[in-house]
Amino acid sequence: MSFIKTIKNSFKKNTVHKTWPGLIEAYMQWLPVSEKTPIITLQEGATPLIYIRSVSEEIGKNVKVYVKYDGLNPTGSFKDRGMTMAISKAKENNCEAVICASTGNTSASAAAYAKRGNMRAFVLIPEGYVAQGKLAQALVYGAEVISINGNFDKALDIVREISTQYPVTLVNSVNPFRLEGQKTSAFEIIESLGNAPDWLCIPMGNAGNISAYWMGFQEYFKHKRSDKLPRMLGFQASGSAPLVHEKIIHEPQTIATAIRIGNPVNREKALKVKKESNGKFLAITDEEIIRAYKLLGEKEGIFCEPASAASVAGLLKLKREVPKDSTIVCVLTGNGLKDPDCAINNNDAIFHTNLDPTINDVVKAMKL
Ligand code: F0G
Repeated sequence: MSFIKTIKNSFKKNTVHKTWPGLIEAYMQWLPVSEKTPIITLQEGATPLIYIRSVSEEIGKNVKVYVKYDGLNPTGSFKDRGMTMAISKAKENNCEAVICASTGNTSASAAAYAKRGNMRAFVLIPEGYVAQGKLAQALVYGAEVISINGNFDKALDIVREISTQYPVTLVNSVNPFRLEGQKTSAFEIIESLGNAPDWLCIPMGNAGNISAYWMGFQEYFKHKRSDKLPRMLGFQASGSAPLVHEKIIHEPQTIATAIRIGNPVNREKALKVKKESNGKFLAITDEEIIRAYKLLGEKEGIFCEPASAASVAGLLKLKREVPKDSTIVCVLTGNGLKDPDCAINNNDAIFHTNLDPTINDVVKAMKL
């Protein structure tokens, strides 16, 4: 008996893992929630901030580059930060169904959180332009998936209209609770670094996330949790860059389907972020995105989806402008597993196939 007790105590003493409760509980005082809010969570948030030696060295000048690996959230993207808030508030307001338009990640996240909150989830997606992993998730989480012969912008027009006429809550980033949840990533970055970074590099689609980060950085700055604000660097794919060119793109195209958006709803907010942070928006080609995507995988063991690699591709494009001794964070918004087709078609791996199952043939292939 006493022996068992001793072992138990020593286990307790050696316990290093603490259960993370999810971001609403962790950052309650910074969020528009009350005791009445039912917390619908998958324990999202608390994602790692990882130092990236290869990119830091390529830039030089004693610059330190980190990635905020938000693809490690429960459904594999940053959307979970916003969705825990949007779905919890929808539940608080007795909503029974939610709807969104999506290039894939929002639909996966909305479906998972809606089901956890015992609600119906309707998701509209552009036919043929949603990566396999994301579609698989929406289906497995039991969403009602509606695929349209039109792009994301058209899908968003439709769901916005439906949500004004029917009892379904819109959970795209026009829903203010989404941005409230997503701002917590800025809090985590400041807590990890002990201050805000000098630059924050981020891909932009509908431009909700860049707006959310800026809100988070400003709030912590105001409360003296950091003594500086970052410059916000927003990147878009060159075939899909309405914020860079400041005009609607009617037929957006890019390999990074997550950010294949021609008419971002958060345009005004994003332009304000650029102005207030002395930031910059830049277009990068699909080739530059894929180069960064491969570099993160091959050199760092980090697998993100192509849209996320846009943050690193953009930084590398601006490397001459990076101030010496600066600290930079690139946001990796989604997990590489989301888009297996892109991975299979864009790698430099050595892949021997159809070998005879013999030691001899395997060793021969290994060229040892
Ligand atoms: N990165 C990924 C992986 C995304 O899925 C998105 C947006 C973005 C970046 C851009 O974020 O829209 O806040 O500027 N995906 C949405 C979706 C549009 O439907 O999943 P944003």
